[in-house]
Amino acid sequence: MKKLFALVLAFALLCTASSALALTVGFTQVGQESDWRTANTDDVCSAIKEAGWELIYDDAQQKQENQVKAVRNFITQGVDYIVFTAVVTTGWDEVLQEVVDEGIPLVLIDRFPETNFPDDSWYTTYFGGDFPEEGARAGRWILNYMASVGHEGDINIVRLQGTTGADAQVGRTKGFDSVVAANPSMKIIFDQTGNFTRAEGQAVMEAALKAVGAENIDVLWAENDDMALGAIEAIKAAGLVPGKDIIIVGCDAVKAAFEAIVAGDMNCTVECTPLMGDRVVEVITGLEAGQTFEKTVHPVEYVYDTNGGIAYDDAGNVTLKAADHLAERLY
Ligand code: AHR
Repeated sequence: MKKLFALVLAFALLCTASSALALTVGFTQVGQESDWRTANTDDVCSAIKEAGWELIYDDAQQKQENQVKAVRNFITQGVDYIVFTAVVTTGWDEVLQEVVDEGIPLVLIDRFPETNFPDDSWYTTYFGGDFPEEGARAGRWILNYMASVGHEGDINIVRLQGTTGADAQVGRTKGFDSVVAANPSMKIIFDQTGNFTRAEGQAVMEAALKAVGAENIDVLWAENDDMALGAIEAIKAAGLVPGKDIIIVGCDAVKAAFEAIVAGDMNCTVECTPLMGDRVVEVITGLEAGQTFEKTVHPVEYVYDTNGGIAYDDAGNVTLKAADHLAERLY
């Protein structure tokens, strides 16, 4: 009797294990442009593998046509789920309709694609940063910080935007612009894309320093930390002191930004977490069990700066001191 029980138990365990292994998940990533992206890739890929599922990963190298190709390959390979983040917001209707027609559940993370579908049944759920709020947080921080150090008159700002047309660029630009529109002392005096990369952040900052003159710039707002870190190099090369002569604000809250803040080179970073793997696994596991999910979920995020205590949102939250959180930042 005991033997029979052991056999049944072993069989049940085998079935559970093989049904977990039976899932195949396609993940199309936009590229490897930043520290944030590397962390996001690592986190999502390892979570899928740790769940015991087969992962088919594709790096689109910033090209929409590569992502379209990857999605079609996932369909041909008969994946069970597609994890999708859109390099740019528009131009997805045709390929996503093909996914819907095949009945493959779409799990959206990070950058949301705009579509013309009549309702939202084409995707299961979206998990990613509230980009307009992130941009607005940067704007409010600049306003409150400059007031706290007694700055009077206009605040002249250089803005480095992310990849044109990416959800993160569109949202952060819109959110920041809304704060500027409500506060006429904030002037954007140079505004260009740096494509979310360190190299372009440096090159575009060099151009900005030449175009408007270093003495006329109060603040650099870079829509990600990599561009801010590149710009810091350009500012140093121009003989200026980043963090003092020009106040530097980035976005993402990656470890390198925490280190730059602690070193005094940077002043603030608005958090956008790349850690999405656990949510992907939670969603797929839940969907397998017949669960449904809220259509949009934003992670809880903070803002970090040199000393802490600066208000950055309408709810009265204040910044955390970067130095206190450096050790726990793993990416
Ligand atoms: O979509 C998220 C953004 O894309 C991150 O801010 C940036 O670093 C990345 O490249």
